[in-house]
Amino acid sequence: MTVPIAGKGSSPVPGRLHLGDDAIDLPAVAATAGSDGLAISSLLATTGKVTVDPGFMNTAACTSDITFIDGAEGVLRYRGYPIEQLAANSTFLEVAYLLIHGELPSHHRLDEFVERVDRHMYLPEDFREILSMQPRASHPMAMLGAAIQTMACFYPESMDPLNPAAVDLATVLLMAKMPTMISYIHRRAAGYALLYPVRGEGYVRNFARMTFARPGEAADLPDALVEALDTLLILHADHEQNCSTSTVRLVGSAQANLYSSISAGVAALSGPLHGGANEAVLEMLARIRDSGRDVPTFMARVKDKQDGAKLMGFGHRVYKNYDPRAAIVKKSADRVLEALGVTDELLDIAREVEEIALADAYFIERKLYPNVDFYTGIIYRAMGFPSSMFTPLFAFGRLPGWIAQWREMMSDPTTRIGRPRQVYVGHPKRDFISWEDR
Ligand code: CMC
Repeated sequence: MTVPIAGKGSSPVPGRLHLGDDAIDLPAVAATAGSDGLAISSLLATTGKVTVDPGFMNTAACTSDITFIDGAEGVLRYRGYPIEQLAANSTFLEVAYLLIHGELPSHHRLDEFVERVDRHMYLPEDFREILSMQPRASHPMAMLGAAIQTMACFYPESMDPLNPAAVDLATVLLMAKMPTMISYIHRRAAGYALLYPVRGEGYVRNFARMTFARPGEAADLPDALVEALDTLLILHADHEQNCSTSTVRLVGSAQANLYSSISAGVAALSGPLHGGANEAVLEMLARIRDSGRDVPTFMARVKDKQDGAKLMGFGHRVYKNYDPRAAIVKKSADRVLEALGVTDELLDIAREVEEIALADAYFIERKLYPNVDFYTGIIYRAMGFPSSMFTPLFAFGRLPGWIAQWREMMSDPTTRIGRPRQVYVGHPKRDFISWEDR
């Protein structure tokens, strides 16, 4: 993707690297906001050296038009629009359209997109049966990854990553079937009969009804629950080159189909340092409550790094300021709990943890603030989700971002198969030792 040199007012400065007596010019890659880049791909050919950057602390793997984060200022924008404005004024499906297609849709385009998604929410009976065959005790993320991969078996006509019509179809099928799959996964674990989507009910309301309605009873779904869920999905919809998105891009760079790439993203998201953190936060808060609600002692353990204890839901690779998503979730937590008629001691504990952390030198020096996962679990719990469903909900929200990033990568003429280098530090060449001599 070519990045226009605009928006920051000045052209980026190329780099010059001095290696011994040699000076190597590194071309600049202009950003419209945030850090410009220095292209180092030719370094191996010109110097024989590779760059080393574990965890990609300083490496941009691509240019992207989709999402901008300013970690120091706590800024997040999708396609240029601030997350606060989208959360206040948009819907998840509209944001999905924005991320995937690049612009806010016209009324007509949005209606068309919503109608197409609505039409495909149904899952074939054989698909339901496959989901039903998984052990009830399976972790929902394991089931979700398998379910998404299974879509490749059911919809082979949408698998060709180089055919735009097939990619469009896969996009709609994923958006449409994700809520149905997640509600099935939830009900399967709870032992309830699986419910069907209802045409025209609304995307998020449909999901909530399929998830929470008791067999034979009308669903009691307050608007506050549906609206809060919609907002949480928007907040999770994209976050530039995080671990799962980079995974989706890497798998896709081998021209694997969209389902396989997204399924790999689900696997990456399941880790407790990534999407799995929302589940870990609730477990942590419950442990604090169950051990006598001694928050200061718990915080001391975190600071001493005893038993590798971490403050889950705190810290972020990019945000060195309050995560803007966490700020929105924190503000809405009270409102949502009140509207749902729920009181939760864990919310009080979370507030106490935050208050101590924000005043403590350990957290201040390391710029550790609450991230999006810190308060989301409390809202999900108030809605009635068990903690094992929190990460699938994250995946549900992240889906349009993964799709948008995958599509951007596939249409970028500079994309090549992702293949990092290494610096080999093992044995030099040595001869095989025969069995008798070992
Ligand atoms: N609790 C205690 N100490 C922490 C924490 C934490 N949550 N996060 C970072 N630190 C310390 C870390 O020990 C290190 O200290 P020192 O300099 O003394 O060695 C310092 O802060 C820098 O941390 P890091 O591990 O180098 O930072 P990172 O950028 O590699 O890791 C992170 C980022 C999100 C993995 C990490 O902050 C973390 O493990 N947080 C808890 C898990 C979590 O909430 N993850 C959700 C992230 S947001 C949603 C998402 O992306 O999925």
